[in-house]
Amino acid sequence: MAVLAFGSPEKKGRFWHSVAKRKAKRYGGFHLYTQHMVWKKQPFFREAFEKARAVAGIPDPRCFVLQSCLRSVARVEGDVAECGVRQGRSTIFMLTADLRDRQYHLFDSFEGLSEPSSEDRMHNGAHGN
Ligand SMILES: C[S@@+](CC[C@H](N)C(=O)[O-])C[C@H]1O[C@@H](n2cnc3c(N)ncnc32)[C@H](O)[C@@H]1O
Repeated sequence: MAVLAFGSPEKKGRFWHSVAKRKAKRYGGFHLYTQHMVWKKQPFFREAFEKARAVAGIPDPRCFVLQSCLRSVARVEGDVAECGVRQGRSTIFMLTADLRDRQYHLFDSFEGLSEPSSEDRMHNGAHGN
């Protein structure tokens, strides 16, 4: 079955929210984010969203969480190291929201997760390989 939603982004949002709400009720046990959440309207989110429009990557809620994390440590000095930047979507969101003038160090293997070597350890000190 094909379902189409027409209208403004807000109208489409309300439509898809109602669909998700019905499904969450039918299957039970799901927490559904409510529409009173205004995070998508935060200026620092909107600005980054526009900059990153053509950049594929992690979903919007995760981008906002990253931005919130950074803003919550605005009083803490230090650089940022991001491991796994891919096309840089998360980076754009972080840079746009950061309240400090920080140095960013961006890393990516561009080959996915590497096999653990003999130097890699588990949290309890055991070898990771
Ligand atoms: C989920 S994607 C990152 C998404 C990205 N942050 C974004 O905003 O869309 C994970 C990335 O981590 C990289 N990666 C995985 N293992 C790695 C490693 N051991 N060292 C460096 N990069 C790694 C992958 O190549 C991939 O680009």
